[in-house]
Amino acid sequence: MSDIVLDWADGQPVSRRFGDVYFSRDGGLAETRHVFLDGNRLSARFAALPEHAVFTIGETGFGTGLNFLAAWQLFETTAPARCRLHFVSTEIDPLSATELASALALWPELRPWAQPLLAQYGALPPAWHRFQFRGGRIVLTLLVGDARETLPRLDARVDAWFLDGFSPARNPELWSDALFRAMSQASRDGTTVATYSSAGAVRRGLEAAGFRMDKIAGFGRKREMLRGTFVSTARGGSVAPWLRRPAPLASRPRTAIVIGAGLAGTAAAASLARRGVDVTLVEREDHVAAGASGNPQGMLYINPSAHGTVLTQLLLGGLGFTLRELAAHLPDDATAWSRCGVLALAHDAEEALRQQALAALGWPTGFSRVVDRAEAGALAGVPLPTGGLFYDGGWVHPPALCAALARIASTCDPRTARWRWSATTVSGMCAPRTARRCAPIWSSSRRPVTRGRWARRRRCH
Ligand SMILES: Cc1cc2nc3c(=O)[nH]c(=O)nc-3n(C[C@H](O)[C@H](O)[C@H](O)COP(=O)(O)OP(=O)(O)OC[C@H]3O[C@@H](n4cnc5c(N)ncnc54)[C@H](O)[C@@H]3O)c2cc1C
Ligand SMILES: C[S@@+](CC[C@H](N)C(=O)[O-])C[C@H]1O[C@@H](n2cnc3c(N)ncnc32)[C@H](O)[C@@H]1O
Repeated sequence: MSDIVLDWADGQPVSRRFGDVYFSRDGGLAETRHVFLDGNRLSARFAALPEHAVFTIGETGFGTGLNFLAAWQLFETTAPARCRLHFVSTEIDPLSATELASALALWPELRPWAQPLLAQYGALPPAWHRFQFRGGRIVLTLLVGDARETLPRLDARVDAWFLDGFSPARNPELWSDALFRAMSQASRDGTTVATYSSAGAVRRGLEAAGFRMDKIAGFGRKREMLRGTFVSTARGGSVAPWLRRPAPLASRPRTAIVIGAGLAGTAAAASLARRGVDVTLVEREDHVAAGASGNPQGMLYINPSAHGTVLTQLLLGGLGFTLRELAAHLPDDATAWSRCGVLALAHDAEEALRQQALAALGWPTGFSRVVDRAEAGALAGVPLPTGGLFYDGGWVHPPALCAALARIASTCDPRTARWRWSATTVSGMCAPRTARRCAPIWSSSRRPVTRGRWARRRRCH
């Protein structure tokens, strides 16, 4: 991976690795709408979604995020209000934040959608990164790595595929049977696919994987493109029972009870609420973070392996997600949290070797970089015996994070002998009737970290 992914030619972004353009010179946004949105009939399918449905799009090649933003824009203008969009994309060379901003500046019409993406986007090491927008209604899962490795591990039910890697002529490795098989594993009857390519090998590969393909008129100078629909009986071979996806739940749960308002409980409650579930958060004490999460300062750091382990990918994805949650919900004011970075010193020969191996992975420097002894000392504010690795991260006051997560909504239930909050929306608003009857629970002796509305049970009657 490198910090610089793009070159610019005639005002258009071009990939350094593949030497190909990211979108048609005839008009990238119009091409996206023709090939991917219309090719998958998304306007009509979004409009016909039942209440609370989740529509999942899978993509090869996130690039500048143009397809994502165009799909999001269409979803917001056509889908019923309580439906959600999950966009799963893959990217081997994620753009830097600066490159993404320059590329998306080409589409002023998409500014209202590009801004929230840019506000969250940062240096992305190889991992699965989740972004949430519009209170969780729009979710982006970005699988950073080679799609041929990441997609076969994806456990999802995709409704529509955008096949948008660089052209098969420039990037033949991507358009492989392995990729088409992975797509078929994550498809169901009726899943659609669209691609600007009309190459015979692509058509044959997709057909062998179970897609019934058609050629239709392409965009701009491209005479033809492909689109298709997945039919499970057309898939070659059979899937062993233990590899089959479980059938989807007939109905999604509408309510849930979460016990314990520590980091685990409040994060679970927030996550469920974002999925439209009415959550009741039950805590035995009279405040959040009454257990281990009550410690005043938690470091936001990871101890990665240089061997690309699944655990390391999980840690990288989790750290990024946590930092985005914190940036969205708490002020970085050195009271609630601070993104001051974390310095890992090369304190002995073994650690120095480990750090060399990590540095050789070439992760984006905005995420981790080697610092010498002088810079390490300057960062830490004290003289140090050695340099090391400087990571994105910092520290958080965990009770502030618990409060922020639980603040999505709060009510108190006079029928219970215990503290009880109910998180019903993502917006953090308390039901007005309850809000009048509830008072903040933090006493002045505590750090001023909660800004939510909290309920003291004895006032609720
Ligand atoms: C001193 C200290 C320093 C730490 N430093 C770090 C760090 O630097 N970085 C890091 O990542 N992690 C750190 N940790 C670990 C981290 O804080 C914990 O892993 C995390 O807070 C655990 O959260 P939890 O929600 O699982 O548990 P808890 O925070 O313990 O939450 C459990 C909650 O459930 C409630 N409960 C229990 N039983 C019931 C019941 N029957 N009914 C209702 N409610 C109930 C409890 O009152 C409590 O509020 C540290 C922990 C400590 C103690
Ligand atoms: C044509 S561009 C995609 C444009 C993008 N969809 C957009 O909206 O801007 C192709 C993208 O596929 C990515 N790519 C190419 N090969 C890949 C692979 N093997 N795995 C993951 N991504 C790959 C490239 O880095 C590039 O970003």
